[in-house]
Amino acid sequence: MHATTVSAPTIQSQLKGGDIGVTTRWQERLIHYQQTIDDLVVDIANPYQISTDERAALAIRIKHANMAIYRCQSPDTVGPDTLTAFAAQLGLGSPDRNLCADTDGLSKIQVEKISTHQRYIPYTNKPLNWHTDGYYHTPDRLIRTMLLHCVRPALQGGTLEAMDHEIIYGLLREQDPRLAEALCHRDAMTIPENRPQGGPHRVQCSGPVFFWDAGALRMRYTARRQNVIWKHNNQTREAVAALGEILSGSGDLIVRRRLRPGEGLVCANVPHRREAFKDSQQIDQARLVYRGRYTRALHI
Ligand SMILES: [Fe+2]
Repeated sequence: MHATTVSAPTIQSQLKGGDIGVTTRWQERLIHYQQTIDDLVVDIANPYQISTDERAALAIRIKHANMAIYRCQSPDTVGPDTLTAFAAQLGLGSPDRNLCADTDGLSKIQVEKISTHQRYIPYTNKPLNWHTDGYYHTPDRLIRTMLLHCVRPALQGGTLEAMDHEIIYGLLREQDPRLAEALCHRDAMTIPENRPQGGPHRVQCSGPVFFWDAGALRMRYTARRQNVIWKHNNQTREAVAALGEILSGSGDLIVRRRLRPGEGLVCANVPHRREAFKDSQQIDQARLVYRGRYTRALHI
């Protein structure tokens, strides 16, 4: 059996309790984050050519919250080509391809009747629990950026929630540095091998939840209970429970938005979830969201 491990560069310098510099930086980060998520939307006049001001507005939100919501002023004119051009201006290149992606690498997230798609929850109207995209990927396919663009919202529901992983990490560390440390262990979370009938074979992948990648903190996580193996020790169990409590109990630190036509979330693959939804009876009015996953980091 092939197994792959995501490396966990040392974070000891971040974990020393009582370090005034670290504490101050954390408090500043928290304040900036709270201010930013209250003002997360950036209007984009022409997604084919974002202006200097629009770029700066996106960049500051990405810096302080690892995410931004863009709002295209002409939603009806935005299609896959537009998103490809928009992503290119953010330094993203081509999307990572998966089984359900179109030829341009973007995935149409909608309720599907096709059997290959049906086995994946995103292609149903069910709720999607907290996760980062591609948490089961090997390190060579690390998803650093994720884009969700709304063409049509659902008739009811489908609200998106997201939370900056740097804030989650800081809250864990504030609660007890050992909790953060447990989730930085190189075999904290293992996704077992998967051999679906008729689907692609996936190798087992072990790695940390939090890790450093070229100076940026990143997170791989799923709240699902099946097909995930947590490291067998008390510290990890406590840390996973604490992480779950942060995600379920940090209402004021969670971005909650029912994306409207022409709006999208672009983020450093922060953990997110989707509410269940009800579609219109008319097929051409059903919820449609484009998703792009990118191995490149945002470069604005
Ligand atoms: Fe996702």
